Amino acid sequence: MRKKITVVGAGQVGTTVAQLLAYKNLGNVVLIDIVEGIPQGKALDLQESGCLQAFDSIITGTNDYKDTADSDIVVITAGLPRKPGQSRTDLLGINGKIVKSVTEEIMKYSPNPIIIVVSNPLDAMVHVAKKVSGLPKNRVMGMAGVLDAARFRTFISLELKCSMVEIDAMVLGGHGDSMVPIPRYATVSGISIIDLMTKEQIDRLVDRTRKGGAEIVGLLKKGSAFLAPGASAVKMVESILRDKKCILPCTAYLEGEYGWSGIQFGVPVKLGLTGIEEIIQLKLTDEEKAAVDTSAREVQEMIEEIDKII
Ligand code: LAC
Repeated sequence: MRKKITVVGAGQVGTTVAQLLAYKNLGNVVLIDIVEGIPQGKALDLQESGCLQAFDSIITGTNDYKDTADSDIVVITAGLPRKPGQSRTDLLGINGKIVKSVTEEIMKYSPNPIIIVVSNPLDAMVHVAKKVSGLPKNRVMGMAGVLDAARFRTFISLELKCSMVEIDAMVLGGHGDSMVPIPRYATVSGISIIDLMTKEQIDRLVDRTRKGGAEIVGLLKKGSAFLAPGASAVKMVESILRDKKCILPCTAYLEGEYGWSGIQFGVPVKLGLTGIEEIIQLKLTDEEKAAVDTSAREVQEMIEEIDKII
């Protein structure tokens, strides 16, 4: 039977996710939003491109959570995007309440979905979805590391003027300015960038990666990035539904891994049919570990804060 994927939020990210899911024939898509007409209009518009893009997915737009019943995967994009000058943390209270209510609604109609959270501040929103849904840790995760690593890969490619297809990268920690791109694990056809660039170049690209989201917010003035975030979420959905077992940096609930328990931040995981099938433990240098700890402490503070609100 065709898989059912619900996308919560028919804004820029949600629309991009729905579109790419359909183009890749990953399953039937339900696009849900509180605004009347928008999800219905976008779903119909997307459905009408099916004969051109050669997909068979049924796309439903709705304001009623009943239509999301028995979803295999739910991608939560609902919430406010950043404005120029705002940090992701500024969205904590408002988006925390939105993600809480969305998760409650989803769980009324889907007994055992896999939830991928995209809303910001990401790590705290994954905590909310996990806590409210009561789902096991392998079934609730966040999309951030795939996006941050994609940005790092892009900047490496632009710097070296070489194809980005052969470039791989790993970004650990929370999805904030203290995220931790790891140059040791950034490679071009298997060659670490440490052997291909100067320290000055690498530091510049790491800094640009950390501020990658803000760079787009600053350019757009209204709204935040949506094309690369949408593609990143779909990469995760595809790895799960096609059981590809890709190893990707995702926001995952930790129980001792990387020295942290009871919180979630970005670590490499294996994504297959049951969701997070394994957390990959890397041997970090003291410097890398210290940077991950700094980022994790920021996430922990946000989680303590959101627990008082929801
Ligand atoms: C970004 C937002 C989506 O990094 O967090 O662009």
